[in-house]
Amino acid sequence: MNGLVIAVDGPAAAGKGTLARRLAAELGLPYLDTGLLYRATGRRVLDRGVDPRDAPVAEAEARALTPADLARANLRGSEADMAASAVAAIPAVRAALLEWQRDFGRRHGAVLDGRDIGTVVFPDAPVKLFVTASVEERARRRWLELRAGGIAADRQQVQAEIRDRDAQDANRPVAPLRPAPDALVLDTTSLDAEAAFATALALVRERLDTA
Ligand code: DC
Repeated sequence: MNGLVIAVDGPAAAGKGTLARRLAAELGLPYLDTGLLYRATGRRVLDRGVDPRDAPVAEAEARALTPADLARANLRGSEADMAASAVAAIPAVRAALLEWQRDFGRRHGAVLDGRDIGTVVFPDAPVKLFVTASVEERARRRWLELRAGGIAADRQQVQAEIRDRDAQDANRPVAPLRPAPDALVLDTTSLDAEAAFATALALVRERLDTA
């Protein structure tokens, strides 16, 4: 599997991260959560007290990212979610993070999850999955996750925030969220994590066998 790149894209809270991490472990490949790069950039901009839509500041912070930024504790939650989505709509931020992602994948192969891995970062990846689920189911999962972490969120509010982020990610002019023409679409609305993983692994193996 050395050198193999697998792209896992999809909307917020579709379960891509869990799936991509497990695929990487199963196939012996490095894993990169590319959303973390946008989250860490958004956090750095917020820390400066600047609006995350400020393109020059966001670009400078994207270029200044360090590995330590990716390990920070406050990269989740609604403020961090929306800041990540805002900086991700800025073309100069995406350009600043592009080579970093490509270098990571080229080194030893990798499973990368994000929004534009199969369309922009690795358009030639031999395996592309587009993982999705209904907005109601994604909101339910995110709400359960928050509750398990001791955060009493309002379910309608969680759903509204996911809808806003989907709209922002899908409607931006640069690298919008959409399946690559050759992506295998995996709808996990009625699949639990185990079934989603088994289905994804079977799809990956099938694609590799016919490649
Ligand atoms: O996957 P995530 O929810 O952690 O991503 C956070 C934000 O970053 C998301 O709203 C869109 C953006 N993103 C992106 O535009 N491109 C990627 N490859 C990964 C994330």
